[in-house]
Amino acid sequence: MATMPAVESADLRPALRILDEMSPVTASDTIPLLQRLQEAYGYLPREVVLEVSQRTGLPASRLFGVATFYAQFYLTPRGRHLVRCCRGTACHVRGGKNVISTAEKVLGIRDGETSSDMSFSLETVACLGACALSPVAVVDGRYLGKTTPARLEHVLRTMREEAAGPAENREEST
Ligand code: FES
Repeated sequence: MATMPAVESADLRPALRILDEMSPVTASDTIPLLQRLQEAYGYLPREVVLEVSQRTGLPASRLFGVATFYAQFYLTPRGRHLVRCCRGTACHVRGGKNVISTAEKVLGIRDGETSSDMSFSLETVACLGACALSPVAVVDGRYLGKTTPARLEHVLRTMREEAAGPAENREEST
């Protein structure tokens, strides 16, 4: 799966390795640097960003500013599975709102949240770039075009059951 486990307290070794490989790091490397850090950590831990700032001389305000500006960056840990639902116009008029509310209901989280067991994160996006297939959801990078609430519910419940492991840990369907 795409996401990496979150680190509790920052292990700086991956960051130091990345800095070493990218050296010398300049301001124009900010985005690729943040991308590589996020690849390594699954998100951008604050301690890592501050350490990188110190070691490169890139102002922390710049690093956090870029990380905050671009939707691709995350400053908090994400779940092992990432569910993205489109809230754009093309999807909205074809029932995207019901797709989003289904994801919220099945996962028990709202837009921008991560489940307490770190299994799922849910995001809504202004456009997933596949309007012809609306309504669209993307689960761990897999596009579900012309999706329906029932189809998404089936996909998510199957994933939850797989994540829960043995049958005794599974939740009852409501
Ligand atoms: S509006 Fe949903 S994919 Fe473009």
